[in-house]
Amino acid sequence: MTRRKLAAGNWKMNGTAEMLTEVAQLTGGTVGTPPQILICPPSTLIAPAVEATAMTGVEIGAQDCHAQPNGAYTGDLSADMLKTAGARAVIVGHSERRAGHHESNADVRAKAEATWAAGLVAILCIGESAAERDRADVLDIIAAQLDASVPDGATGATLVVAYEPIWAIGTGKVPTLGQIIETHDMLRARLVARFDAEGDAIRLLYGGSVKPSNAAEIFQAENVDGALVGGASLKAADFQPIIDALAAS
Ligand code: PGA
Repeated sequence: MTRRKLAAGNWKMNGTAEMLTEVAQLTGGTVGTPPQILICPPSTLIAPAVEATAMTGVEIGAQDCHAQPNGAYTGDLSADMLKTAGARAVIVGHSERRAGHHESNADVRAKAEATWAAGLVAILCIGESAAERDRADVLDIIAAQLDASVPDGATGATLVVAYEPIWAIGTGKVPTLGQIIETHDMLRARLVARFDAEGDAIRLLYGGSVKPSNAAEIFQAENVDGALVGGASLKAADFQPIIDALAAS
């Protein structure tokens, strides 16, 4: 199975309109196979980002959506609204939303379904805490999160799963390559068991302190199809070498 590599940037609550000029200059790299490039800026920058990248291969996504298509939800945005703004994908279940907004696996699952209902791709995040990483059953914990968060009917065209250990996000700490391989192999096997051939087509991203200095090593893992990058996606000088490493992998 050849899965198209994906370099996704999650700007979180960062970024300005001025930064979109740099985004428009990102390229698929000169060596290897150009990966798909997706930037998820704050929602207010989605439409300007789509405009800035119109003549480029860079795609724009969102960081969250509401599970309902409309209604009395002050301050929220539906997947369809994000699509209208030009988003192609929506990150759902990021650990910062699971923790800060008390989102459960069931909530994340509903958001992924809402994303699909709007015709968008769901980039669904899972990952263990530092305390869970030290447990003997850490893989079971991650597997249970996957099972409960991913809706039925997932396909390679509609779902991307991002494995993001919470303790690695924004900390500079990264799991060993062995831990990444073990976790991603488990996720692949579980997705294939549940979705057959589509489970093999669903892309698996690693996320958590990916940088130009560690990207090439992480991308060695067979079941790592790309990265979800936070801090290092904010500057083209950091994100471009990560894209280049992915293209070359
Ligand atoms: P980081 O964030 O690359 O800054 O660690 C990753 C993420 O939260 O998606």
